[in-house]
Amino acid sequence: MLKGLMFLCVLCSSVEQKIYVVLNETVPCVRLLNATHQIGCQSSISGDTGVLHVLETESDLDWILSSGPHPPYMVIMETAFFNRSVMMRMKNSSRVAGVAVIISKTGLADNFSPHTTCPNQNTGVYSESYGSDLANCNGTVWNPLGNGLSYEDFSFPVFALKDENQTQVLRKCYEDHNQRVNGSAPQYPLCAMQLFSHMHAVTDTVTCMRRTDLQNRFSINPEVLCDPLSDFNVWTSTRPLNNSAKGHAADESVVIAATRLDGRSFFWEQAPAAEGTVSGIVTLLATIQALYPVTQEAPPPRNIFFSFFQGEAFDYIGSSKMVYDMEKNDFVIDMNNVHSMLEIGQVGLRSGRSLWMHSDPVSRQNKSVDTEVSEEEGKLSLFSHALSRSQPLPPSSFQRFLRARRIPGLVLADHNTSFTNRYYESMYDDAENLNVTYPPGLTPDEQLVYETDAAKSLAEVATLVARSLYLQAGGEEKNLNNITADPKIVSHMTSTNTHTHTLTLTLSLSLSLSPSLSLSLSHTHRHMTSSHTPPVTRFVQYILANLTGTVTNLTESQCQNPSELSTENKDLFSYFWVSGPASVNGTREPFCVRASVRLSKAVSPAFELLEYGSRNYSTWTESRWKSIRARIFLVASRELEVMHILIKNLIVSMIFILIYNNACLSYFTPKRQNKLYTAFFFFLHI
Ligand SMILES: *[C@@H]1O[C@H](CO)[C@@H](O)[C@H](O)[C@H]1NC(C)=O
Ligand SMILES: *[C@@H]1O[C@H](CO)[C@@H](O)[C@H](O)[C@H]1NC(C)=O
Ligand SMILES: *[C@@H]1O[C@H](CO)[C@@H](O)[C@H](O)[C@H]1NC(C)=O
Ligand SMILES: *[C@@H]1O[C@H](CO)[C@@H](O)[C@H](O)[C@H]1NC(C)=O
Ligand SMILES: *[C@@H]1O[C@H](CO)[C@@H](O)[C@H](O)[C@H]1NC(C)=O
Ligand SMILES: *[C@@H]1O[C@H](CO)[C@@H](O)[C@H](O)[C@H]1NC(C)=O
Ligand SMILES: *[C@@H]1O[C@H](CO)[C@@H](O)[C@H](O)[C@H]1NC(C)=O
Ligand SMILES: *[C@@H]1O[C@H](CO)[C@@H](O)[C@H](O)[C@H]1NC(C)=O
Ligand SMILES: *[C@@H]1O[C@H](CO)[C@@H](O)[C@H](O)[C@H]1NC(C)=O
Ligand SMILES: *[C@@H]1O[C@H](CO)[C@@H](O)[C@H](O)[C@H]1NC(C)=O
Ligand SMILES: *[C@@H]1O[C@H](CO)[C@@H](O)[C@H](O)[C@H]1NC(C)=O
Ligand SMILES: *[C@@H]1O[C@H](CO)[C@@H](O)[C@H](O)[C@H]1NC(C)=O
Repeated sequence: MLKGLMFLCVLCSSVEQKIYVVLNETVPCVRLLNATHQIGCQSSISGDTGVLHVLETESDLDWILSSGPHPPYMVIMETAFFNRSVMMRMKNSSRVAGVAVIISKTGLADNFSPHTTCPNQNTGVYSESYGSDLANCNGTVWNPLGNGLSYEDFSFPVFALKDENQTQVLRKCYEDHNQRVNGSAPQYPLCAMQLFSHMHAVTDTVTCMRRTDLQNRFSINPEVLCDPLSDFNVWTSTRPLNNSAKGHAADESVVIAATRLDGRSFFWEQAPAAEGTVSGIVTLLATIQALYPVTQEAPPPRNIFFSFFQGEAFDYIGSSKMVYDMEKNDFVIDMNNVHSMLEIGQVGLRSGRSLWMHSDPVSRQNKSVDTEVSEEEGKLSLFSHALSRSQPLPPSSFQRFLRARRIPGLVLADHNTSFTNRYYESMYDDAENLNVTYPPGLTPDEQLVYETDAAKSLAEVATLVARSLYLQAGGEEKNLNNITADPKIVSHMTSTNTHTHTLTLTLSLSLSLSPSLSLSLSHTHRHMTSSHTPPVTRFVQYILANLTGTVTNLTESQCQNPSELSTENKDLFSYFWVSGPASVNGTREPFCVRASVRLSKAVSPAFELLEYGSRNYSTWTESRWKSIRARIFLVASRELEVMHILIKNLIVSMIFILIYNNACLSYFTPKRQNKLYTAFFFFLHI
């Protein structure tokens, strides 16, 4: 029987090689799950196929959804059509096999946010028991432009086409074979497309984790179906904290300065998040660069703790984990050590923008908290505006701290009510959205040092934040003039990659990383990145090491194992072996940097508590998949197409039954079993 199968597949593969064009520069939308829902997209296990149709006009929409004679259609969508109303009509139609969206700036609407109107609605501080009339964005809808597309569940694959040249191949195939001529239907052969993005997990996190647990218990070869979203927070402090001592730190009073590290969009790992997140990261880094030297020269009485939280887009993964650890005495400080907090939210770099200070009206009902917050506001009031005291906080990590304790704090942002960011959590929140532009004719090296208006205004914000943090920590006013952020550093950090429009953090530091990293944020895809932390986390970690560390004379082996030296202290410091700045002749001198920069796990406590249906903590997991692929080919006739799919599915399911039925499998020798697996995957992939 196996021989027969092999014969069949030799036959089909030789035909295929002539007609298939593989599209490799595509990005899928993948499936995510929380306690109660699944969202995202997927294909059937053997991929979904349809006749190509480019959606360019309203009449194409009608053709696809009702009049076209060759359903199901694989819709190639121009940017202008990628919005909620069109996508929901696609979702509702049985005539759509899948969607491929052309990602370009032409035809882009003046706003697009696939996020919800009230981000992290259920996991912030406002609820039945805390400021109940402020819960659910009652009063202030933060992201009114949000259309919620990222939170819909699509039963067909949706891919993004990023490469112009490959899009051209698609268009050509469509124009040559599928275009209507004077309104009449095109004739076979037709150009078809097949998308593969089968997702292993279904229903919700509870179901998926239970199945994974079961597999772990009873199967020799357990298969993980989904992974909790996880990564690392990055933190440092102006006075080193003993990382091996957990719980309350005696005599420490700590001012927390925080921002978030992640962003998201509809498509997997496509989140430039320029205004949404990068503006905050850059501001906080520039703040640290301005503030750190003075805190070493003239230390203020309080410690300043800088924290970059990861996974905040998914119900505050990073901040909820840190707060959880603090409450369990499993972190270097606890809530009693926290004096106050200042969070940097979206701070657009555009010049002429005002900054707004958001505070929590509920905790300010307490007199002493209110006094503290007012004082904090006073320190920041130089060129930012305080807001009315009845408005709730925007979505922010600070909300997770407030859930634990009513600490005084502020969130700094470029909006007073709803976001000014018109592309929140979409792939269009890029450098262009921030108006980072250069005069024409600059080389990349010149761009690096060119002080854009954006960089200058951001440096001003960083100076303001740094000075107020210093005062907040009890520092003396006479030192304030020594705290000034350098626009050059900001220019370095915000130079843009003109090809991808991502902000490129190119601070030419002595990083052991590649010297220039495109900062495109994303949630973590654990089974792809378990071996290394993703770029943005590592990047921030190394920049912090450079800004706050000292160069030592340790050798490479001492650097990796400093505990053997009596002069070094692994509890207070991390040690980084870095490649050193490039010298004129291009060589690098590596050295060892000592810095109190730490990573701490950012994974939702729900998974530690095994509460997969938790309402208090993030429950987001990401489904696993085997293959993400796209290709186009010609189909000679409908019958052939159907036959192809039918035969294939028949063969795949037969082999599947053989493999997964151990009774059957035991009739085969191991060698034959291997052949069987090979055949299975072969057929799965054609
Ligand atoms: C995609 O395919 C082209 C040509 O087939 C190749 O040059 C390119 O490197 C591929 N890209 C990726 C990301 O594999
Ligand atoms: C969605 O896109 C279509 C086509 O560009 C347009 O006609 C429609 O008004 C858009 N809908 C919304 C809600 O923007
Ligand atoms: C979906 O289709 C049904 C009938 O097929 C129709 O009643 C409903 O209004 C459609 N919904 C949308 C959002 O188009
Ligand atoms: C929403 O806010 C208004 C005014 O602040 C209040 O009267 C109303 O009760 C709130 N609604 C809910 C559901 O809490
Ligand atoms: C899970 O996500 C869905 C879709 O966004 C949402 O409606 C639901 O409230 C979420 N469930 C929980 C428990 O947060
Ligand atoms: C697209 O093709 C043109 C000409 O063939 C080539 O110059 C260009 O580099 C290609 N672009 C990409 C992104 O591959
Ligand atoms: C389409 O119609 C136009 C005029 O109505 C005619 O000149 C042209 O030849 C037609 N094209 C085809 C391919 O039939
Ligand atoms: C963008 O920057 C240019 C040049 O710096 C400036 O002329 C323009 O007004 C800016 N636009 C916005 C919206 O800030
Ligand atoms: C502030 O700057 C002045 C002049 O550069 C310098 O003398 C002084 O030591 C600095 N103070 C601190 C705390 O760095
Ligand atoms: C930081 O980077 C600069 C520029 O590459 C380098 O001169 C300096 O020694 C670095 N400092 C540390 C502590 O790594
Ligand atoms: C590094 O410098 C310290 C003094 O700062 C000295 O005691 C030590 O011997 C040096 N180590 C090496 C490996 O040169
Ligand atoms: C490169 O320059 C450094 C000093 O900048 C020098 O020590 C080194 O020997 C030079 N290397 C070569 C290969 O010329």
